[in-house]
Amino acid sequence: MQKIIQLMSLELEKAFENAGYDPQYAKVVVSNRPDLCEFQCNGAMAAKKVYKKAPIEIAKDVAAQLKGSGVFSRAEAVMPGFLNLDLKEAWLADYLNGMAQDPELSVEKAENPRMVIVDYGGPNVAKPLHVGHLRAAIIGECLKRMGRRLGDNVIGDVHLGDWGLQIGLIITELQERQPDLVYFDENYAGEYPEQAPFTIGDLEEIYPAASARSKQDEAYREKALQATVELQKGRRGYHALWEQIMKLSVADLKENYRKLEVSFDLWKGESDVQKYIPDMVRRMQEEGYAYLDQGAWIVDVSEESDSKEIPPCMLLKSDGASLYTTTDLATILEREQEYHPDEILYVVDKRQELHFVQVFRCARKTGLIPEKAELNFLGFGTMNGKDGKPFKTREGGVMRLEDLIGDINREMYQKIVENRSVRDTDAEDTAAIVGLSAIKYGDLSNQATKDYVFDVDRFTSFEGNTGPYLLYTIVRIRSILSRYAEGGGDPAVCRLLPADGKSEKNLMLQASRYNEALAGAYAEKAPHRLCSYVYELANCVNTFYHEHRILAEENTEKQQSWIALMDLAKCVMLDAIDVLGFSAPERM
Ligand code: ARG
Repeated sequence: MQKIIQLMSLELEKAFENAGYDPQYAKVVVSNRPDLCEFQCNGAMAAKKVYKKAPIEIAKDVAAQLKGSGVFSRAEAVMPGFLNLDLKEAWLADYLNGMAQDPELSVEKAENPRMVIVDYGGPNVAKPLHVGHLRAAIIGECLKRMGRRLGDNVIGDVHLGDWGLQIGLIITELQERQPDLVYFDENYAGEYPEQAPFTIGDLEEIYPAASARSKQDEAYREKALQATVELQKGRRGYHALWEQIMKLSVADLKENYRKLEVSFDLWKGESDVQKYIPDMVRRMQEEGYAYLDQGAWIVDVSEESDSKEIPPCMLLKSDGASLYTTTDLATILEREQEYHPDEILYVVDKRQELHFVQVFRCARKTGLIPEKAELNFLGFGTMNGKDGKPFKTREGGVMRLEDLIGDINREMYQKIVENRSVRDTDAEDTAAIVGLSAIKYGDLSNQATKDYVFDVDRFTSFEGNTGPYLLYTIVRIRSILSRYAEGGGDPAVCRLLPADGKSEKNLMLQASRYNEALAGAYAEKAPHRLCSYVYELANCVNTFYHEHRILAEENTEKQQSWIALMDLAKCVMLDAIDVLGFSAPERM
């Protein structure tokens, strides 16, 4: 179903035309003075030059055409030439009844679905997930879901960091500790053991130890670099170790992402595209894009209009090793070959922006991907603690994601148990659901590109602009609906009647704008806009709820209409939070 604002514009176009004006001026927008009117049209102001007429005269002509309109209950020309508009309650109710009947809740699917790859997550194997990976997962997952909800074909790719120095460090440290392992015997030609010589717990201890040592011990670091190169060249024992690391790490990562309700269609990584690199680089050399500079192969990507210098893209270092850039270029090549995407969207820390500017320019310049395909970078800001510095543990260390989730869930559990008179078995599951909403909504409700403060107390509050508040509102509606059903009513047969009163109409108006809010948020890659929408909807629900005694209402038709409205608000909220990436418990 079309967006309500478009339908209003259509009605206004007719009025402009009938009054003798160009319908292009008939655009309707939400009022910026809600105290004066619900919607407005400012077209007369723009039309004044063309018609050499005072805008107020134009607005009056149009308003005259809207007398008896089926859409607007009021269309008033006000100085200097605005049209103030209010919707007809009956028309609004019709729209909402249509929306309630539609399994898509009036969300229109893309006519020409695009193929979009979202590259998000970006964890590095063998390193535990930490809060730095949280934003990529949360924002990327939301954009993927938005795209799907609006009909695009969206593929999520985790793009593992699985080919770098961290593997060389682990190999080196392992060799120090257990030099006799068969993996280190270069003459060994047999099968390697099926069982890994370490557990995931070991890895989580080995990596930081190795990383710390490499910062102090130059020879050790050299060894790790060497091990990385040998792994990349295909040394058998190292490769077998790498496979073991991958197996354990990926299983662990999957479990972590599952807890976050984040899922990827592709579990590809940097290692998967190494095979494309030699040919890709050769072509760039032959076609004259890449040239030698102090032994390294580089491609210029600066442009005349640059206000600051964009350094060239390095393909191969002087020792022949490829880099992060090379891998990302090869990944574009592979994605183009396999999926012909209309867009690749990278959801990565904004501090990597320069890297992506270089990669995108090089990909364009060398024709890795057709001109019409979009390459977009959504760089997110840092998640800070209350002290304004990157979020840390109380001891000042890097916060592991698992621990953060554990802390939040415990906090939620406390609150839920306090709220309930009886201790029951589902409190823990409920705490996990509500806790996830606290984390995800706390993140998404901030503009992605900005840094934000992760404030546990605020995010877990049942009041204010928080995930738990939204869930609380949904649970409240559920309880009304189930009590209504217990009394013998059937919400499914209830229909909305024209609103009778301000809070009812406000709720209806807000509910009617769901498709618009969702499409707008996706177009701008702005989950926070969808958050504002649902938050506002929850506020409308609660204001309405406090002003009406729904279950005690004696006028049956009226009661049914309110039940239908509650049911619709619940459906919209559930749909929206699903797009945001969390769900609601049955009760709280
Ligand atoms: N693994 C990288 C990191 O931890 C992020 C990967 C982002 N995606 C990409 N295609 N480069 O910084």
